[in-house]
Formats: sequence, structure tokens, C-alpha cells
Amino acid sequence: MTTKTFTMLKPDCVEKNLVGKVIAQITEAGFKIKAMKMTHLTNESAGGFYEIHKERPFYNDLIKYMTSGPVVPIALEKENAVEDFRKLIGATNPTEAEKGTIRNLYADSIEANIIHGSDSDENAALEIAHFFSRKELLEN
Ligand code: RTP
Ligand code: MG
Repeated sequence: MTTKTFTMLKPDCVEKNLVGKVIAQITEAGFKIKAMKMTHLTNESAGGFYEIHKERPFYNDLIKYMTSGPVVPIALEKENAVEDFRKLIGATNPTEAEKGTIRNLYADSIEANIIHGSDSDENAALEIAHFFSRKELLEN
């Protein structure tokens, strides 16, 4: 049985021209792209997406970073998608990310860490709905 997860290639990924390489690593790991777009987040959209971190000391910097340039939100499908995707991207802090993971290969810092991955099936569904309409998802 396949499950869904949500990822977003963050502004540093787009800025460093790594979109193609990162998507190739994702699809080579067996994830199927269900919906994808390139967009520039507003403060409202980034704030809604990271609502859970509102009280954290890094929240304002996080919103500034996430709105600093275009991002690429993607809905993905695979068996055991959430857990396998978190393994593929590696730890939040790239210095702690396992060798060969996307953050180990490409991320510069704990904040500018290239890519997002949902942390539960429930959040994956909410995050996909935050970015894609039902129609966009059905068409894929
Ligand atoms: P994400 O949600 O983006 O997949 O990242 P994550 O689960 O690995 O980490 P999370 O704790 O959810 O943090 C969300 C994003 O906030 C930035 N961050 N900055 N300066 C800091 O100490 C700090 N900590 C986290 C990162 O961009 C992180 O991915
Ligand atoms: Mg998170």
C-alpha cells in the first residue's frame, strides 16, 4: 500500500540551481510525483505552513528565509512515504545528516537546509491540502 508525503524544495535549493538534481534523487529513491509547482510564498502562506513553530525563537528568521525566493512544493507517493522520505533528506542540521542524504550533500546550515519533509501522515495530508487543490491532485 502506498502512502503520501509532502516536500518543498526551499529557496536555497532553487537559488543554488539544485532543483533537477534533488528531484532526480527523490524519484530514483522510488517516490512518485503526484503534484508539483513553483511558487513564491507570501508571509501569510509561509506563516500558515510553519504555524506549529510560531513560538520558537527561530520562527521570524524561518519566515524570512522561506519567503526569500521561489520554492517548489511537491506531493509524493510511495510505500512508507513519510518515514522513508525523512531518511532520504537526513537530519535538520546538515552536520548531523547521514552521508549521502540530500541535506548532507547540499545544505549549508540548520536553517538553509534545502528541503522540507512531512513528519507524519496527518501533517502530510494537511500540507498537501495547503498547496494543492483537490482538482490538481485528482488530475495526477
Ligand atoms: P522541515 O519541517 O522543514 O522538514 O524540517 P525539520 O522537520 O527537519 O525541522 P523542524 O524542527 O520542523 O524545523 C523547521 C525548519 O526550521 C528551520 N530551523 N531553524 N535556527 C534553528 O535553530 C532552526 N531550527 C529549525 C529549518 O529550516 C527547519 O527545516
Ligand atoms: Mg518539520
